Amino acid sequence: MYQSFFIKTYGCQMNEYDSEKLNDLLEFNGYKASNNIEESDIAILNTCHIREKASEKLYSDLGRLSKFKENKKKIGKKMHIIVTGCVAQAEGEEILKRNKSVDYIFGPQSFHKLPKILKNFDNNKVYNDFLCEDKFSSLIPSRSKEVSKLVTIQEGCDKFCSFCVVPYTRGAEFSRSVENIYAETTALVKNGAKEITLLGQNVSSYESSVFECGVKKKIKLGDLCQILSDIQGLARIRYLTSHPIDIDENLLNQHQINTKLMPFLHLPIQSGSDRILKKMNRKHNRSFYLNLIEKIKKLNKDMAFSSDFIVGYPGETDEDFQESLEVIEKVRFASSYSFKYSPRPGTPSSLKNNLIDTDVVDTRLKKMQSILNKYQREFNLTFIDKTVEVLFSGKGKKHNQYVGRTPHLQPVHVFSSRDIEGKLLKVKLESLTSYSFHGKLSA
Ligand code: 5AD
Ligand code: SF4
Repeated sequence: MYQSFFIKTYGCQMNEYDSEKLNDLLEFNGYKASNNIEESDIAILNTCHIREKASEKLYSDLGRLSKFKENKKKIGKKMHIIVTGCVAQAEGEEILKRNKSVDYIFGPQSFHKLPKILKNFDNNKVYNDFLCEDKFSSLIPSRSKEVSKLVTIQEGCDKFCSFCVVPYTRGAEFSRSVENIYAETTALVKNGAKEITLLGQNVSSYESSVFECGVKKKIKLGDLCQILSDIQGLARIRYLTSHPIDIDENLLNQHQINTKLMPFLHLPIQSGSDRILKKMNRKHNRSFYLNLIEKIKKLNKDMAFSSDFIVGYPGETDEDFQESLEVIEKVRFASSYSFKYSPRPGTPSSLKNNLIDTDVVDTRLKKMQSILNKYQREFNLTFIDKTVEVLFSGKGKKHNQYVGRTPHLQPVHVFSSRDIEGKLLKVKLESLTSYSFHGKLSA
């Protein structure tokens, strides 16, 4: 009988992508996906290391899982516990020391080895080489029929922001080949995908090459968007995440002319204070960021923005924090994420001792989030009574209800007696709940 497996995914969309790929690889090798981690023969935890809270979740889940493993053993059954993802990369041996029931550890660029290792029962328990090329060439075509799909085009980061573990957990920047990305996207579109999100820790630094009439041509993210937009049946392209200093003319030009490229850009700033940005090693200052936003808006008036903010970076004063709020007031982000600073082992900022008092951080974060929410609502309210194109990706909770997204990623619910899953349709937005719209299909 085939063994069953369950993958629990923590963290970002890069991990979601990896989990789906691992799922496909295991099914291809004869394993069966289970609905329940406790009953599975192979329990896989695909972990996140970005902030302390995320990585501590692993250890509490491992505690629970090891009890299941012991109980199974008592009735003569086996359970394999596998840890993959960024905690596996960063804390490989440490995980084995903290929890003896873990069988194997695979870094995010080694998970493709899992099916082989499970068959051969290797003595080695930790696999954490940086093997991007090997990983991508081992993946198999997806059979998913989902409307909106993720496609990893780049992995790793060379920016070394002082607070961030990514350069250590995902390694140096690696860009997947254009042929590989094109083949994956074409296959997804054949299966019914209408929208793809090009993923990477730093997609804006994507760089590969193709041969045109025997001449080697450099391909940047803008070129890639252009190439992929020729795929018939693909309606929407998005990309995530970018660094402001890498947004080049080529990409900006695409936002001006490529109607398949959605007018929404996630552009993390992290702080609005030049002093803190410098300490963070962000390589841009506040005016560079604000000028870039203005430039993009001039090129395409429909563009809207989201960002990431870190609150309470070591040494952040009230004035520094105020400057972050000023950036929010100026840009009026359509949505944004804000996080409490979390010192991560091995990063330069974790060695700093001028930590901000937790009460101060909590108060600042609350304030920032209420301002971000205010602008998100303001942005959304400008769409009431407007008619926009919505890509429907699935059913809602109610009878005959469908859910989709606008070009600016806003969720929309409508009622329809015919099946509209996978359709791109015009919808009049009538009302707004907290973060999503209710609308009516236009005749
Ligand atoms: N503490 C808090 N937030 C962090 N991020 C990355 N590292 C840390 C950290 N040490 C946030 C950044 C990044 C997002 C993915 O996570 O804002 O853009
Ligand atoms: Fe981390 Fe992004 Fe900075 Fe790279 S650019 S180090 S992924 S925050």
